[in-house]
Amino acid sequence: MADTTTYQLGGTFTFPGTSLTVHRMGYGAMQLAGPHVFGPPKDRAAAIQVLRAAVEAGVNHIDTSDFYGPHVTNQVIREALHPYPSDLVIVSKLGARRDEQGAWLPAQSRAELISATEDNLRNLGIDAIDIVNMRFMGDMFKPTDSDITEQMDTLAELQRQGKIRHIGLSHATPGHLEQALRVAPVVCVQNLYNLANRSDEAFLDTLTAQHIAYVPYFPLGGFTPLQSEHLDQVAASLDATPMQVALAWLLQRSPTMLLIPGTSSITHLHENLAAASLVLPPEALVTLDHIGAEAPAAAAPQH
Ligand SMILES: NC(=O)c1ccc[n+]([C@@H]2O[C@H](COP(=O)([O-])OP(=O)(O)OC[C@H]3O[C@@H](n4cnc5c(N)ncnc54)[C@H](OP(=O)(O)O)[C@@H]3O)[C@@H](O)[C@H]2O)c1
Repeated sequence: MADTTTYQLGGTFTFPGTSLTVHRMGYGAMQLAGPHVFGPPKDRAAAIQVLRAAVEAGVNHIDTSDFYGPHVTNQVIREALHPYPSDLVIVSKLGARRDEQGAWLPAQSRAELISATEDNLRNLGIDAIDIVNMRFMGDMFKPTDSDITEQMDTLAELQRQGKIRHIGLSHATPGHLEQALRVAPVVCVQNLYNLANRSDEAFLDTLTAQHIAYVPYFPLGGFTPLQSEHLDQVAASLDATPMQVALAWLLQRSPTMLLIPGTSSITHLHENLAAASLVLPPEALVTLDHIGAEAPAAAAPQH
């Protein structure tokens, strides 16, 4: 039976300079491919159900990429949701490809970006992608400055052709943002950030001041889910789960923070959506601050 719970989903946010308004609590589709984000999902029908449940619950921001699977996640999204609701914003990303063993390889040349855009359009069944994040490679664990002229010129060209509506950046530095803004407006940045990995604090403040959306990837820790005594303690005191506290903490961190937690489970989906209604009292915020201070650096592959 469909879950008819009504969620607040953290209020709404309009991407700067666009007519795209989304709830701040969205959904990340990476978990819908097979193990290691490669090949088909274990249970395709369940993956379709998760997507439909998300949209039924009010989610109108879905994050994806054609290199999830590859192609699989976009094809599952299409099967589940096409024709898409008029308010649904699908955000994809370019910049990597997979080899036959599933390894992640850079795909950052003009030709690769154009071809990946066509893959996204075909597999999602759309004429234009609402937002495309240009995913830079850098160091595996942190973004590093690089010349992004070729990538930005190509995305701007695709935007002029109407294949991409708006541009975002991923695994990006403040230097990347500065370069990108010389070429085209940037509506969002998708970087690694969560309770335990806060190296983007200053960048996040800059983006908040510019009203550019900050969309953390691995909001729950990604391949190594967040674990912390402090998190457990706050969750117990609020009768919530640790993952709900982790998401509520992100939402309160900045009004331009948009969440895309990933899950292949309907139970987790509903748990995550409900987190947007959780209010963290000041003493909980103090306790949670210890996690960032104690946490080791991130240690997981990311795309
Ligand atoms: N730009 C980039 O480089 C990049 C990199 C990585 C991800 N992303 C995007 O960011 C989105 C989110 O990242 P992510 O999915 O990798 O990591 P995440 O949201 O931090 O965590 C997902 C993991 O947490 C589990 N989970 C989810 N909800 C849970 C809950 N309520 N309780 C317990 N476990 C829970 C999921 O397992 P179950 O399936 O069992 O729930 C999954 O293993 C992705 O979907 C993708 O769209 C972007």
